[in-house]
Amino acid sequence: MTSAHTETRRLLPITPVERDGQRHGSRSYLTCLYRCGNACDRPEPNASDNTHVQEVIGSALRRRAVLRGAAVGGGALVLGAAGAGAAVADPVEVAGKKGKNKGRNKLGKGVLGTANFRAVPPNKRDAVVTPDGFDHNVVIRWGDPVVAGAPAFDPANLTVDAVKKQFGYNNDYVGVVPTGRNTALMVVNHEYDDPDLMYPTGRYSQAEIAELGLYTHGLSVVQIKRGKVDGSWYRERNLSKARKNRRINVDTTFRVTGPAAGHELLKTGKDRSGRRVMGTLNNCAGGLTPWGTILSGEENFNQYFNVSGEMPAGPTLADGTALETAYSRYGIGANPSDPRQWLTIDDRFDMTTEPNEPHRFGWIVQVDPNDPDSLPRKHTMLGRFKHEGANMTVSRGRAVVYMGDDERGDYLYKFVSANKVDRRGSKRAHRHNMTLLDEGTLYVAKLTGDGTEDGVSDGRGEWIKLCTHNRSFVPGMTVAEVLIFTRHAADKVGPTRMDRPEDVEVNPVNGKVYAALTNNSNRGGSIPADEANPVTSSQVRSGPASELTTASGNRNGYVLEMTASGGDHTRGTFAWNLFLICGDPEAPETYFAGFPKESVSRISCPDNLTFDAKGNLWISTDGNALGANDGLFRVPVSGPKRGEVKQFLSVPRGAECCGPLVYDGDRSLFFAPQHPGEVSGATFEEPASTWPHSNDYPRPSVCVAYQRR
Ligand code: FEO
Ligand code: CA
Ligand code: CA
Repeated sequence: MTSAHTETRRLLPITPVERDGQRHGSRSYLTCLYRCGNACDRPEPNASDNTHVQEVIGSALRRRAVLRGAAVGGGALVLGAAGAGAAVADPVEVAGKKGKNKGRNKLGKGVLGTANFRAVPPNKRDAVVTPDGFDHNVVIRWGDPVVAGAPAFDPANLTVDAVKKQFGYNNDYVGVVPTGRNTALMVVNHEYDDPDLMYPTGRYSQAEIAELGLYTHGLSVVQIKRGKVDGSWYRERNLSKARKNRRINVDTTFRVTGPAAGHELLKTGKDRSGRRVMGTLNNCAGGLTPWGTILSGEENFNQYFNVSGEMPAGPTLADGTALETAYSRYGIGANPSDPRQWLTIDDRFDMTTEPNEPHRFGWIVQVDPNDPDSLPRKHTMLGRFKHEGANMTVSRGRAVVYMGDDERGDYLYKFVSANKVDRRGSKRAHRHNMTLLDEGTLYVAKLTGDGTEDGVSDGRGEWIKLCTHNRSFVPGMTVAEVLIFTRHAADKVGPTRMDRPEDVEVNPVNGKVYAALTNNSNRGGSIPADEANPVTSSQVRSGPASELTTASGNRNGYVLEMTASGGDHTRGTFAWNLFLICGDPEAPETYFAGFPKESVSRISCPDNLTFDAKGNLWISTDGNALGANDGLFRVPVSGPKRGEVKQFLSVPRGAECCGPLVYDGDRSLFFAPQHPGEVSGATFEEPASTWPHSNDYPRPSVCVAYQRR
């Protein structure tokens, strides 16, 4: 194995962790340890009192809300009318103009938005299960070649050089940018590594595992081509034809843009400019821009940093205030149970040496897959937090980006560009559009309930200004400070603490915004309930056929529906309602937009969202607390079937379902089973899954589903 880091430093003691049993609902210890650094073992980092409790809703009121919601059904539809016809981006159409594909495909419409499939039942199978009438194929697996010269995959004989050329681990976001009628570039995030499942036990030293893990993070750009079966897609195996393929990793230079670029707090020993960062970490979800690039969120970046000696003091803000919680508000600190120990192979992960390095992560990054030589960008104007992802729409000509901060009790955000999108498709237009995320206004959301007398969780919302590129609205903080310490800035202006905001995405058909709020074990405990976050105890199951039992907090999550005032996403106000209160339909707290509960699928822990051409919402799940595998669900948002949640597929044992993308006129559904087999007690030798069954160990893979022919 080659090594860029020859210095061997003192290893820190690793606190033994409980390696058996389940933690935090259905999550395995592996997921908690490697994905988010056991975030739930600590108090939520948001210690503010920003709850804005309009009315705390007890279980009796919640039951009434459900009944009343069922009776009125379309209460939210009335609100939704204002959003109809809002201007939205069309990534496929506009991106096609940039590439060779001048228009929509001519192959006719698919059926994903209209098919009357039979719902996939809850199950624990080690397989991708789709409804009768549908098929799927694997597009690319962990370890498959991405860049020319990649060796055959062998987890027992990996080198850093091999990992740099192979598809990374734990595929999350999937974005597809068309380059022709039968070709496209697929961009995939690699969120995190899981050495217990990836490598034969004892095969590699801790330093080797650290370096292999470092390089498996990042993104892949992969050329794909249409398969013979309508709707199918495969990776281009002839890499001489795939010249835009790229592995983005810690050897990749990112250019820092926006108002905080070059700030003292972003400078390190190896980057005196504060404008160049090597690599991107823990990239979770993302979104397409209308100009054919992808946005990707750096999420649980905090877990990679540690200290070899003293924990640095927080910085002093420009007004002289000591920001003592600069690190802890992001969950950054001395971490004796750090499983990766990256500080032993590179000083940049040692805050005792490099106290500013953590400030260089937690951003939204932009990658232009059509320009493999371009430097990806980190956009400070979109704020720094645990970004789930970023989804763009175009409203009144402006780029509007919706974002979630995935932490218990953290916030929803929005960015509106100062300048307008240039849709002409020229190179000059592209250059202009690539500057749009550098200037504009960053907002955080406050949701106020209108009371429970109406029987539904709904109300009005306000987008509170945090800063523009040249003006701060947060007392005592400069623009750069607001952007580098966005959580602190938001704490000061009174937003609403939400239940782990994940994807926030605009429906291109009705113009409404949908936000997945995945769960919050602390709701009703350290974080009080409010009308937007009403569930304080949930029904869960330990297995598909087991009895419902009660757990504290919001264990199954919500889907929030927001309607921009006047259908204008640049405005500062909106209406909101809970579209789904997820869970088992038999549980009293659940609500499915008023649809009869006996006719919907069980759904738990919504995570990533997408829409088909009909405007149906597709929801992938992560961490199903109802005892079955995670999956992907379709639900209409309008008409008589509004709220009819139907499970379209389930992913293999131990996996979450990531990256859903309905593509190509409802004919192809990309999805990404991440961490198959990540079950407590599993190892490389004793896996809990062997999916996709090409080896005797599991391999995270991107798939595509389509109608059977
Ligand atoms: Fe990586 Fe918020 O899930
Ligand atoms: Ca209400
Ligand atoms: Ca996610």
